[in-house]
This record gives sequence, structure tokens and C-alpha cells, in this order.
Amino acid sequence: MIAVAEIKNKVDLPDDIKSSAVKFSEGEFLHTIIKKNNFKKTLETGFGLGLSACHIITATNSMHVGIDPFQANYNSTGLKNVEKLGLKPLLEFYADYSHNVLPKLLNEKRTFDFIFIDGDHKYDGQFIDFYYADLLLEKNGNIVLHDTWMRSTAYLVNYIKTNRKDYEFVTQELRNIAVFKKIGTDTRDWLYFKGFGTSKSFFTHKTIAWLHNTNDSFLKRTVIKLKDILK
Ligand SMILES: C[S@@+](CC[C@H](N)C(=O)[O-])C[C@H]1O[C@@H](n2cnc3c(N)ncnc32)[C@H](O)[C@@H]1O
Repeated sequence: MIAVAEIKNKVDLPDDIKSSAVKFSEGEFLHTIIKKNNFKKTLETGFGLGLSACHIITATNSMHVGIDPFQANYNSTGLKNVEKLGLKPLLEFYADYSHNVLPKLLNEKRTFDFIFIDGDHKYDGQFIDFYYADLLLEKNGNIVLHDTWMRSTAYLVNYIKTNRKDYEFVTQELRNIAVFKKIGTDTRDWLYFKGFGTSKSFFTHKTIAWLHNTNDSFLKRTVIKLKDILK
């Protein structure tokens, strides 16, 4: 099995799409919490460039479920990375939407102890992933959300914190990741609801959306510089 420190030297991350993958520091974080908890049954929505998958599989040396309908759009870069690192025999890959695959796994009575959500980042897409991830997750397992800089993710984080007493928010040092541990069963009755609005990530999301949608200008270059300084 390839050493985790070797992953960054071996994977192929094309310049135009590499920002979509987890950062190496984030991958190493996933690897560490999986090892620390001895998780073995892992799943992720949003396989992308395979970077999170490589860090997860090297932590478990066990089968990992990866889901992504758009691998062909990226020249199968993620699948090629996993193959390059010799990890392909440990990957169960579904080239389909998570909203199709997760209910199928649930019907098959599959369970997992670690689920990484990094697929469709719109609120409803992430919520569906969380909904099924919860049903598939064993007690004491972890659900990890990526891209908490996004308003959609911040809302999901706040929903779990306020409405799901069966989950514990795990404090850790990375800014762009939220970790939840399943500590019990969902005992809410049909009337239970707590509002979960949040102002978290308001400025970050607005700024990044503006940078994404605006043409090159002095102001845009200045904001990018500022953003890099503040990182
Ligand atoms: C941020 S990237 C994931 C990066 C990946 N975790 C890595 O480290 O390389 C998001 C991925 O989610 C995929 N995606 C989008 N909608 C999806 C859905 N409904 N189900 C599963 N994957 C989805 C996209 O094709 C994209 O590859």
C-alpha cells in the first residue's frame, strides 16, 4: 500500500480542475481521523479527482464506495489517479448521481462507518446526501462535510447542530470541513423543528461568487490578492 505522504507526488491534477479536489492537508486530515477511529466501511459522494478517495483508501486498506456521475467529463482523472496508486481493487465506483445510488445501497442494507459528502454542493443536493448518509451510518460513525465556506454547507451544518441531537459536532482545526459523530438515534417527534438560519459564510460566499462571475479588473485582482493574504 502506498504511503499517504506519497499521494501528492503520484496523482495527476490538471491545472484547470485541480481546485475542485480536496487540499492535501484536508486529505491527510480525513486519513488521520479514519485511522484514529479505525473506520473501515467508507463512502463518498463527489469522487471528483479521486484525491479524497486516495487518502481514505490508504487509511483503511478496505473497500471504499465512490459516487460521481460526471467522471467522463473530467477524462476519468479520478479513476486514473486511483489506478495509478494501485488502489483500484479497493474502489467500488458508481458513475451515477448520489440520489440514485444512496437509496439503492440502503435497500441492500449496506452500512458504513465513515461518509464524506463532497458531491452536489447546492443545499438540496447536500441535504439529500446527508439524509441518506444518516440512514446508512452506524452509531459512532462520522459524517464529514466539505466546503463549509459555502452558504449551502453552512446551512446544512447549522441544521444538524440545531435539529439533530443524535449527532455531536466534532471540533477540529480545519476551516473548510465539518465533522459530525453519530451518538444516538433520531428520536424527534413529528412536530419537532428548530429554525436553522445562519449568517455564517455570508461574506466569503458572496465574495467567491462575485469573483467567479465577474470579468478581470483591477478590483478583482486586488480582491484575489487580499483573499490569498487572508488564507
Ligand atoms: C468538489 S468535487 C469532489 C472532489 C473530490 N472529493 C476530490 O477530492 O477529488 C465535486 C464532485 O461532485 C460531483 N457531483 C456533482 N453532483 C453530484 C451528485 N448529484 N452525485 C454525486 N456526485 C456529484 C461532481 O462531478 C464533482 O466531481
